This record gives sequence, C-alpha cells and structure tokens, in this order.
Amino acid sequence: MRARVFPDYEAMSVAVAYVVAGKLEEEPSLVLMLPTGITPLWMYRRLVEMHRSEGLSFANATFFNLDEYLGLAPDHRASYHVYMKDHFYGLINPDPARIFVPNGAAPDPEAECERYEAAIREAGGIDVCVLGIGRNGHIGFNEPGAPFDSRTRVVKLSESTRKVNASDFETERAPERAITAGMATIFDSKSVLLLASGTNKAGAVAAAVEDDVSENMPASMLRSHPNAVLFLDEPAASDLGHGVAG
Ligand code: PGA
Repeated sequence: MRARVFPDYEAMSVAVAYVVAGKLEEEPSLVLMLPTGITPLWMYRRLVEMHRSEGLSFANATFFNLDEYLGLAPDHRASYHVYMKDHFYGLINPDPARIFVPNGAAPDPEAECERYEAAIREAGGIDVCVLGIGRNGHIGFNEPGAPFDSRTRVVKLSESTRKVNASDFETERAPERAITAGMATIFDSKSVLLLASGTNKAGAVAAAVEDDVSENMPASMLRSHPNAVLFLDEPAASDLGHGVAG
C-alpha cells in the first residue's frame, strides 16, 4: 500500500479526482465503487466540474455504492441514495441502469445483499474502489472485527460510528444496521484509493499502515492489496512514522 501525502484537503481531493478521471478516460466502461461521507465531497465536486467544463463523460461507466443504512427508503434525506444523487449522480451523465446502491428498504435484506454481489459479478467486478476510513478504521461499514473474507451483508454499526453519523439524523437516532460491501468484495477491486483527511483520522491511518494486519483494524487489510493507494492530507498523515509516506 503506497501513501501519497498532500498539503491540504483540496489538493488531495483534486489528485484523487484526476486519478479517477484518468482511469475513466482510458476505460470509459469503468466499474467504480464509491463512498459517501464528508471526505469524498470535494472529489465529487471536482469530477462534476470536469464533466461540465471538460466534457468528462460517465455515460458508459457502472457505479456501485459501498453501503446504505438498513431501514431507510431511497428517498430518505439521510440515505446514501439521496447523498449520491445530490453530490454526484444527479450532476453528471450516468446511465441510470448502471447505478447500483444497496436498497436499505428491501423487504428481504439478505436477498438484496446477494443481488448486489451478483450485480458486481455481472459487471465484471470492480475496477476502482474509492473509500474513506472511519476513526475506528472501518472501510465501508465494515466495523472492527469484520472478517476479511466477508461479502456484501447486513452489519450492525458500532456505537462510535452511530455517534459520528448522528448529525445526519435531526430527530431520529442513526440506524443500527446497514448493508455494506464486504471486505472481500472491496479487496477484489483491481485498484483501491483510500482517502483520509484531518487529524481525527491520523490515528486510524497510522494503525492501518504501521500496526499488524488485523480484522480489528479493517483498513489494514489493504496492506496486502496489489494496487491500493492512500491519499492523505498532511493532518491525516501526521501520526505516520518517517519514511512511510511520500
Ligand atoms: P467521513 O466518513 O468521510 O464522513 O469521515 C468516512 C468513513 O466513515 O468511512
């Protein structure tokens, strides 16, 4: 796993956007797996700008989302369906038939997870997976302890994750469960770009890069991935030892 460190969040976001755009230009039918959260917002913003001003086209790409809250309808304002529509899918030119977000309101969530894995297989697998990292090292909603061989499934969210995400829910509590792409689902991606910004991620980044590879630190799995790159701003890299980043 290689780390690239940028002076600030904006520089990091622009760099990731360029990598995604470059891969898309090389392979217009790229299969992407994409995150939600605060960290990817400026990457999306830059990709939308490239679409508007430079004609970057997403028309032939396929999109999978990493996760969705269980129990939220796709039109719930805190759902990741709405997030993706507001920040990305609604602002570019995707083929709606090739946008996949787990349905948190599916009557049979287990069947929904199987359907999701099947759709990924049918698309030929993920080419590029863009990820954030939780303060506890989670990737997608794979919380500490998630088996490295797990596939898309229903998971219980940790209390710490629910607290961090509580601000998305004005009156209700954050959902207790979610559907997430599994650790193996992520690992099977040809290339993984993990984004982290801010000092509140520095501990998780350092543990993922420097401590033992362990299911207790989900992001550490990426150390054995053949093509995983960390995109960090300086605050997120601030706990890394010398010689790791660069
Ligand atoms: P964030 O979320 O970008 O909102 O910090 C990242 C994550 O929890 O995976």
